[in-house]
Amino acid sequence: SRQTKLKEVAGIPLRDSTVDNWSQIQTFKAKPDDLLICTYPKSGTTWIQEIVNMIEQNGDVEKCQRTIIQHRHPFIEWARPPQPSGVDKANAMPAPRILRTHLPTQLLPPSFWTNNCKYLYVARNAKDCMVSFYHFYRMCQVLPNPGTWNEYFETFINGKVSCGSWFDHVKGWWEIRDRYQILFLFYEDMKRDPKREIQKVMQFMGKNLDEEVVDKIVLETSFEKMKDNPLTNFSTIPKTIMDQSISPFMRKGIVGDWKNHFTVAQNERFDEIYEQKMDGTSLNFCMEL
Ligand code: A3P
Repeated sequence: SRQTKLKEVAGIPLRDSTVDNWSQIQTFKAKPDDLLICTYPKSGTTWIQEIVNMIEQNGDVEKCQRTIIQHRHPFIEWARPPQPSGVDKANAMPAPRILRTHLPTQLLPPSFWTNNCKYLYVARNAKDCMVSFYHFYRMCQVLPNPGTWNEYFETFINGKVSCGSWFDHVKGWWEIRDRYQILFLFYEDMKRDPKREIQKVMQFMGKNLDEEVVDKIVLETSFEKMKDNPLTNFSTIPKTIMDQSISPFMRKGIVGDWKNHFTVAQNERFDEIYEQKMDGTSLNFCMEL
C-alpha cells in the first residue's frame, strides 16, 4: 500500500511535492521565446515532446538520442527535493527553451501570459485518456493507489485525480486558443495523419525541413519505435517510481481502448456527464479510428 497523497491548489489535486514548491513555480520567469508543451496527463505528452525534439534537432536522430527523454524538456511544476526542480532546470537552460506542463490555465505561472509565449496543446479523447491514466496510476508508485477500475471511474469523473478534471483542463485551454499563440492538436489526428500534424508543429516552430526529414521524424516517433527506444520508453526510471512490470509506460498507443474497459452502463453515464460538462464548447473528439 502506498503512502502517497495528493494535495490541492485552488481545488486542483497535484503531487504533494509540487504543492510544497508552489511559490517557486508561481514566480517562475518565462521568456518570450519559450515554447510550452501543455497537456492533461496521458494525452500524448511524451509523443509530442519527441516530435518537438526531433524538429528542434532538424531530424538528426544522433543528436536526439543523446539524452533520456524526461530530462529534455522539464516540467515546470516538477519537484522532488533534493534534486533540482523543474524551475531550477528551466532556469539553467539556454534560450529558446522548450518546457512542459500539465497545469490547467488558471494555475499556469502568470509570467507565461505576460510574455506571450507559444503553447502547444495536445488533447486526447476523455475515455482513452481516462483508461491510460488508470494504468499509469497502477504502475506509478508516487501517485496514490487508484483502487479498482470502478472506484477510479468515480475519482476521474469527479476531477479528483492528479491535475484535476479532464473536462476543465481541456475546456480551459480550448477557450483561450485564439487569444494566445496556441497550436491545439488532437492525439487522434496525430494517429490518423502523423505527417500532417508534424508539419503543423514544424510551421508553428518556424522550421522548414525537407520532406525526407519529415518522413524520418514520422518513423522515429511512431509508437513501435518509441516503445523500443530506452531513451523514450522510461525504462531508465527506477521501479520504485514507475513499476513497468505492472503496466508499461508505452502501453498500447491506440484510439478506442476505452471499449475494453467501460461497461455499457458506465459508458452511458459517462456520455451523460460529458454532455453536461462540455455543454457549449465546440470541441469534437474522435472516439475510434
Ligand atoms: P496508452 O496508455 O493508451 O498506451 P503521456 O506521454 O502524456 O503520459 O501519454 C502516454 C500515452 O501516450 C500512453 O497511452 C502511451 O502509450 C501513448 N504514446 C506514447 N508515445 C506514443 C506514440 N509515439 N504514438 C502513440 N501513442 C503514444
